[in-house]
Amino acid sequence: MQLKSYIKFLFKSQNQHGLHSPFVYELVTNCFYDKRKYPEYKLLDDYRNDLLKNHNTIKVTDFGAGSRVFTSNDRRISAIARNVGIPKKRARFLFRLVNYLKCKNMLELGTSLGIGAASLGANKESILVSIEGCPQTANVAREQLRKFDFNNVELKVGEFEEILTKFIISDKNKKEVSGPWTDSNQQSTYSKNPGTFDLIYFDGHHTKEATLKYFYQLLPTAHNDSVFVFDDIHWSPGMEAAWEEIKSHPEVRVTIDTFFLGLVFFRKQQAKQHFKIRL
Ligand SMILES: C[S@@+](CC[C@H](N)C(=O)[O-])C[C@H]1O[C@@H](n2cnc3c(N)ncnc32)[C@H](O)[C@@H]1O
Repeated sequence: MQLKSYIKFLFKSQNQHGLHSPFVYELVTNCFYDKRKYPEYKLLDDYRNDLLKNHNTIKVTDFGAGSRVFTSNDRRISAIARNVGIPKKRARFLFRLVNYLKCKNMLELGTSLGIGAASLGANKESILVSIEGCPQTANVAREQLRKFDFNNVELKVGEFEEILTKFIISDKNKKEVSGPWTDSNQQSTYSKNPGTFDLIYFDGHHTKEATLKYFYQLLPTAHNDSVFVFDDIHWSPGMEAAWEEIKSHPEVRVTIDTFFLGLVFFRKQQAKQHFKIRL
């Protein structure tokens, strides 16, 4: 499935040439293909390499769509880092995206060991809330994030649904979202638009139903300049179907399929348009 989809993607995808949308052209030129060597890349490499050297074993509680790699729930931290954490290229891209879009207030569904969280939080002016269901995995992530001084990343442990309803989406009005970064519902001074997220990274439960559920649940937290980033949109036919439904939603204006990631923008000033762009 992946290979067939990938070949199709390669035929249909493009680079920055011939992009008529100025917003997308600028994004692709100055962020996707930004070749500068950021000092934060070393921090991200160190974070990952440290995990790759950690051969302790933890008992993983399986959430989401299950693993295609692991057969047992007793897993080495190094193996999780190698197989589950986002790859280097994508991690660097997430860092650039946060920088380029000046995202301050972000949410991640699915922390694992925090490789993605570190990428999103490497710009220390941002604030990230990241949710992880597996307690032992979350413990390692918490330690690792602390070790590398990611004080701007707050980890919440629990099932997505439970944490979203408890902390992220307020009960009284699903259109209003309370500040998730504190348990006392205070609004963050970092937020450009209180009650909303500048970026949400959906990287947890890779099934059609779950992806769409969290998309609809978190849609009210998007503002005009938010970006939703979906991981593994071609992972399965179900994920591809979810991606198509997200693309067709009336509030969605611009989407960019980079094969592994799907970016969703809500910019009302923009005509609806879908792009396939190689990273
Ligand atoms: C692909 S990994 C995340 C990788 C991470 N974002 C990164 O970039 O390194 C997905 C994680 O989401 C967690 N997860 C999946 N479904 C969940 C759910 N419904 N509630 C809580 N956690 C969940 C899994 O335990 C797993 O650690």
